[in-house]
Amino acid sequence: MTIRTICICGAGTMGSGIAQTAAMGGFHTLLYDVSDAVLQKAGASIEKNLQALVDKTKISATERQTVLGRLQFVTDPARCVADLIIEAIVEDQDAKLALFRQLAGFNREDTLLATNTSSLSVTALAKKLPRPERVAGMHFFNPAPLMRLVEVVRTEYTGEQTVECLLALARSMGKTPVLCKDAPGFIVNHVARPYYLEALRLMEEGFGDPETIDAIMESMGFKMGPFRLMDLIGNDVNYAVSCSVYEAMGRPERLAPSPIQEEKVRTGALGRKTGRGYYTYPQYLP
Ligand SMILES: NC(=O)c1ccc[n+]([C@@H]2O[C@H](COP(=O)([O-])OP(=O)(O)OC[C@H]3O[C@@H](n4cnc5c(N)ncnc54)[C@H](O)[C@@H]3O)[C@@H](O)[C@H]2O)c1
Repeated sequence: MTIRTICICGAGTMGSGIAQTAAMGGFHTLLYDVSDAVLQKAGASIEKNLQALVDKTKISATERQTVLGRLQFVTDPARCVADLIIEAIVEDQDAKLALFRQLAGFNREDTLLATNTSSLSVTALAKKLPRPERVAGMHFFNPAPLMRLVEVVRTEYTGEQTVECLLALARSMGKTPVLCKDAPGFIVNHVARPYYLEALRLMEEGFGDPETIDAIMESMGFKMGPFRLMDLIGNDVNYAVSCSVYEAMGRPERLAPSPIQEEKVRTGALGRKTGRGYYTYPQYLP
């Protein structure tokens, strides 16, 4: 399987970063979103990131132009024709399935379908799609251009060629892929769930506020405290992942989502992307 064109669906926090990574990796890259405003924001963010690399002399001005030239921004799903589709839309099984079904209609039978889901069952998606052997998870981390790890998620249906192709592709983008089984939260989000939930319990019970808990965890060597990290991820995404892992694990009490997460989502305090979450980010306020 030769991958030349990659279509990234969803141009939010992850899609924008994955598109930058793909274009920098030399691939012709389509970035699709239902919202033109989101695409414009993604384009501006990619241009800014590339300029920062030029300023740090990590890439030349010519390379910046070449990378930008590989990117196309589209709002028409019929233009999402590629060798590989990586979806990074909302963390909702039905939405992801509907998108893949729609795009399967426009694409060749051997186009690979990868989901960047953080926690949903890749198997459940694969078995409802034509040719499930070409479906896998390709879970990038935030910020995608910087974080090296990619979890490649194999289901019982995923073909060996699909797995090999995605592992090689991740390496060609300068990433370190790790092959995972399709389990709730895969590896990272499974291990990390208590990091957020225990911190939220401490806050709920009045043992510490976000600043204090983050400062303590950061002084212990964690790069980001749990609240700063939740704001980076997006509180809507983190809440959806908490709910999905909780349900998939059979609702154990220790993994119950926190009412604070639900409140953050209800009040639109989604983190950096809305300018406020556990902290305020004046530069991102609308
Ligand atoms: N945020 C993180 O740190 C992180 C890390 C790894 C994986 N993920 C996963 O990546 C996915 C996207 O997360 P995000 O944080 O980028 O979300 P986001 O809310 O920032 O962006 C989602 C984008 O998808 C678009 N969208 C929604 N439905 C669509 C559709 N049907 N067709 C095309 N575009 C559509 C929205 O307009 C939005 O721009 C989720 O599955 C999430 O679990 C997130």
